[in-house]
Amino acid sequence: MAPNKIATDIKFDLNDGNQIPALGLGTVPPEDPSEVKQQVITAVKAGYRLIDTAWYYGTEKYIGEALKELFADGYKREDLYITTKVWPSLHDNPEKSLDKSLSDLGIEYVDLLLQHWPVCFKSDENGEPAVPKDGNGNVIFDDDPASGTKFIDFYNKIEDIKLNTNKARSVGVSNYSIPKLKQLLPKIKKFIPVLNQIEYHPQLPQQDLVDFCQEHGILIEAYSPVGSTGAPVLKLPYVKELANKYEVTVNQVANAYHINDGRISIPRSSNLERIKANVVIPQLSKEELKTLYQIGADKPKRYINDPWGYGLGFEWWEGDTLSKGE
Ligand SMILES: NC(=O)c1ccc[n+]([C@@H]2O[C@H](COP(=O)([O-])OP(=O)(O)OC[C@H]3O[C@@H](n4cnc5c(N)ncnc54)[C@H](OP(=O)(O)O)[C@@H]3O)[C@@H](O)[C@H]2O)c1
Repeated sequence: MAPNKIATDIKFDLNDGNQIPALGLGTVPPEDPSEVKQQVITAVKAGYRLIDTAWYYGTEKYIGEALKELFADGYKREDLYITTKVWPSLHDNPEKSLDKSLSDLGIEYVDLLLQHWPVCFKSDENGEPAVPKDGNGNVIFDDDPASGTKFIDFYNKIEDIKLNTNKARSVGVSNYSIPKLKQLLPKIKKFIPVLNQIEYHPQLPQQDLVDFCQEHGILIEAYSPVGSTGAPVLKLPYVKELANKYEVTVNQVANAYHINDGRISIPRSSNLERIKANVVIPQLSKEELKTLYQIGADKPKRYINDPWGYGLGFEWWEGDTLSKGE
């Protein structure tokens, strides 16, 4: 049995010549978003270098407070890798979104700027409301989510930020399906996305999307690596079996599933001990990775089914009737 590894020692190459750490900390807000400050401090002190955030999460000011303390403690900006994202309500002005993120984070650049979703909402110039809805509770889009092309202009504007400023070292995408990538790639100005951040775990392997991204030099970053709130992935009997075999936690198995296979994992936790423990991962064998993969190949399950994902051409998106036939 191969010895366990330190996940925070591992980095992956990006298609623009930069590198990204294999393990990151997710920062979707817990009930009390100010807790994120201590989570970030704990993670960085445990060895994490990648922090994943977004304008939409409302946690950037708490991450900023954490960074201030860490910098005062001797950590350097260049030691850390910070990702933020532009929400669809600010699709017309991604630089405004980034400026707000940078100001809240208290830094001058991000290592990675992502287009959060390939859709555009109709909101005001400050991106409010973040999710505009009509009287029936339906999202108000600025462009048809299934057939529109404004999402491409949105990505091109993010490229402009890397082209014309020093505020983003790399640019990428999130929640892109194969149909959306096929539309985007011929219209790229200069920068192929370095990665696609998508829901990914043993219950949702999406091998065709992974293969497509790999063919184009786009890395996969796995969000919701334990299936988000309730951590359903950790209840899988085979995940428990591997945790027993390697004498690690089920969370460590969930991260190893990605990192052993060349994908970035960005778990979130309010439990500081869990954050620290995640630094170690078992080295799963090829057979074990295949068995984990097979769980979702046989019975796929998506846990994030936001309505702004309807029409994007994803498989197994609950409630999505717009993508049928794509
Ligand atoms: N690009 C996108 O659209 C997108 C979408 C979703 C997420 N993300 C990113 O990916 C990150 C991670 O995804 P996520 O936040 O959806 O979820 P996740 O990391 O899959 O799951 C986190 C949840 O699982 C719970 N959990 C973890 N280990 C547990 C255990 N051993 N026992 C019981 N509960 C456990 C956590 O509770 P505790 O707090 O108690 O540990 C927390 O509620 C996000 O924070 C965000 O940065 C991006």
